[in-house]
Amino acid sequence: ASLELGPYSHFMQKEIHEQPKALSDTIEAVLENGFAAGLFGARAAELLPQVEGVKILACGTSYYAGLTAKYWIESIAGISCDVEIASEYRYRDAFANPKHLVVTISQSGETLDTMEALKYAKELGHSMALSICNVRESAIPRASELVFYTRAGAEIGVASTKAFTTQLVGLFALAVTLGKLRGRVDAAAEHDYQEALRQLPGSVQHALNLEPQIKAWSDKFAAKQNALFLGRGLHYPIALEGALKLKEISYIHAEAYPAGELKHGPLALVDESMPVVVIAPNDALLEKVKSNMQEVRARGGELFVFADLDSHFSESDGVHVIRTPRHVGVLSAIVHTIPVQLLAYHVALARGTDVDKPRNLAKSVTVE
Ligand code: G6P
Repeated sequence: ASLELGPYSHFMQKEIHEQPKALSDTIEAVLENGFAAGLFGARAAELLPQVEGVKILACGTSYYAGLTAKYWIESIAGISCDVEIASEYRYRDAFANPKHLVVTISQSGETLDTMEALKYAKELGHSMALSICNVRESAIPRASELVFYTRAGAEIGVASTKAFTTQLVGLFALAVTLGKLRGRVDAAAEHDYQEALRQLPGSVQHALNLEPQIKAWSDKFAAKQNALFLGRGLHYPIALEGALKLKEISYIHAEAYPAGELKHGPLALVDESMPVVVIAPNDALLEKVKSNMQEVRARGGELFVFADLDSHFSESDGVHVIRTPRHVGVLSAIVHTIPVQLLAYHVALARGTDVDKPRNLAKSVTVE
């Protein structure tokens, strides 16, 4: 394994650092052809214009990619999107609208619950299914009319990293493509979205360069029992993903909340022993997040803030800040995934856990 790892200590660390390349490989076709239906397979030009809504089904980290995509699909394509955990969907009397596109998200393409959820959706009358998948010719894309292959390369660490960020690219491309088909994205907007994708690998590299600062934080987390992650809007699913990563590999109990919901429960947990990670880029909700942070500080909670320079945060007693160089706009959620991955990785290292093979978990769950 040491040959394959090169300069890295674990596959997870290697895979985190491969993200600029994984992302540029995945966006290549979009940069070449624009947001064309053909990105999603041979039948996409026929099927995508019929789509009136989107239903996303997935498990684990892939489910959080779906939660992020909901924001893009509703705002850019202007159609409704719901996102559901595959193992729940497959066992309920769900309502099916055949004009809705079923989108499954799966790194492996073999997760049993996701596969069964797809079959169930078909039984209920859905006839259009798109698979966002990292493994060519695996079971789920084979059972789907449409497919978008992420080009992350083999992912070995059990905790998903580069698969997640490349899934987000595929889902973003879907949102813009549907928006174009519906006349909501004109040529100028398409150009801007393409430009945002073009700059993404570079912005992700900037975020990776923060690793020494993030490592310096990890000792403060290693001794804790709990952690709380906060975000708002598109960054709320990234907070969820950050909490999941920390749970999976460091075994610290972590929860994520949309920051505006703090006052409805989790604020009761906050005291000096509760580190609170906040994802706070300079977006439309920044001022709201800042006031949520004051609520935490007032109860003695120590804040660990991931922001960009444009957020204008300064360090103070109990408030630690790590900044990316600038706010990147619509793809900010992807860039802010990097620091929470690195945080989980370094906390796990500090606690001496088996980073690439966490206890009780499997890379791909093909049983129920
Ligand atoms: C397992 C893995 C997770 C992954 C989930 C879904 O739980 O440990 O990292 O997110 O399965 O896997 P999939 O291959 O369907 O994306």
